[in-house]
Amino acid sequence: MIFAADRLLLFGATGDLAQRMLIPALCALQAEGLVDPRLTIIGTARSQMDDHTFRNFARAALEKYMPADRRSNLATFLNRLHYQALDATDAGGYAALAQKVGTPAEGLAIFLSTAPSLFEPTIHGLQQSGLTGPHVRIGLEKPLGSDLQSSRAINDAVAAAFPEDRIFRIDHYLGKETVQNLLALRFANLLFEPVWNATYIEHVQITVAETVGLESRVDFYDDAGALRDMVQNHMLQLLALVAMEPPAQFDATAVRDEKVKVLRALRTTSADETVRGQYTEGAINGTVVPGYVEELGRTSGTETFVAIKAHLDNWRWKGVPFYLRTGKRLHKRVTEILVQFRPIPHSIFGGNSARTTPNSLLIGIQPEENITLQLMAKVPGLDRGGIRLRPVPLDIAMADAFTGTQRRIAYERLLLDLIEGDQTLFVRRDEVEAQWAWIDGIRTAWEREALEPRPYSAGSWGPSAAIALAERDGVSWHE
Ligand code: BG6
Repeated sequence: MIFAADRLLLFGATGDLAQRMLIPALCALQAEGLVDPRLTIIGTARSQMDDHTFRNFARAALEKYMPADRRSNLATFLNRLHYQALDATDAGGYAALAQKVGTPAEGLAIFLSTAPSLFEPTIHGLQQSGLTGPHVRIGLEKPLGSDLQSSRAINDAVAAAFPEDRIFRIDHYLGKETVQNLLALRFANLLFEPVWNATYIEHVQITVAETVGLESRVDFYDDAGALRDMVQNHMLQLLALVAMEPPAQFDATAVRDEKVKVLRALRTTSADETVRGQYTEGAINGTVVPGYVEELGRTSGTETFVAIKAHLDNWRWKGVPFYLRTGKRLHKRVTEILVQFRPIPHSIFGGNSARTTPNSLLIGIQPEENITLQLMAKVPGLDRGGIRLRPVPLDIAMADAFTGTQRRIAYERLLLDLIEGDQTLFVRRDEVEAQWAWIDGIRTAWEREALEPRPYSAGSWGPSAAIALAERDGVSWHE
């Protein structure tokens, strides 16, 4: 049933994500008149607060995390906020919550931004208190489990109360403009699709590099590590969007049907096609930062970096490696996809084709959003005996191409879609389970080979073994 929710129930309302992303995103949506003027937001968490205290809490978060020029109509927004304290594991508390939520005119959207261990009791409480039903949909924040088995348990628990078409699994990378732009680039242009295959593409690189370290989620991160925190979700979604077949429409079923085929075509990876790393003391932008174990305060075998050479066993991508790498405390913050084309078959310009640089397409996702096509061009001049060539970039900076448009955080898109019921940018159960199945295969290989993380200095590009992983195929990581 399609409805635009006029009530939003936010679990984890005092958490870090709520402060940094969710409350600012909701404030932006209301300031721009994108949500129903009746929208009421009910926050819930363990802390004891009343509406007034929660509004002050939200105001402080907005002042800290939202640019002043986007905070228009603040008083109206704050007046929409309400709060009900709840211990999610206490089944007795849900009746009061249901009373606070009241009866929506159209429908209710629920968003769980809590630890996954709370998902099952929460779903149970929602069921008991009548907060489910055809006019209710639910959004789930990651992590959805820590392996295939635990992910299935969560999916089963949610499925007991909500059908799949009312479950919205968040991967915030899908809310990023340039990630959606990947679809526009591939499927709104004629140019790329004919060469988007193993005949013309030599390899693909996907890099998600961060300069931050452990941050505040010490225990969660040390349990998860880079493979489960970043590759299982964000990187595999990027890979799926790069590699999928053209969907017939831009809708939830067509897009997700194509993505899941890619995820299922991932070949089980062996340990020697992966590199695990853990950062040691180093310098980021000239500032000395401690190593992972010093930050953590104990020894740990968790990886903060991972590089993988992945393969898709299907016709389109036969023999085309996908090199993935992600890590904390790397040289700079950058998320990008590089599509490396093959060399031209024959050079008419004398010498051999090795004198030309093969084309590449670089899709910058953050911090800058840009698309760069590397082409060969003639160097101006009156050279004798042939022409001189040099690679030149054909650059599109999104900020210049679309001046005057607002830069948005991913959660604005995703919360709007949750409120309005569009699942296209949310992850379906079969996708998330295919992602976990592949990740479990890597973890099993690591355990079998007892593969320990290799040290790398904070501020570097990761362990030298990651460079070697690509170099043994004659490939250099894009920097
Ligand atoms: C989250 C991870 O999903 O994504 C974090 O849990 C990571 O560890 C974050 O820092 C990165 O998101 P973004 O949008 O800053 O690239």
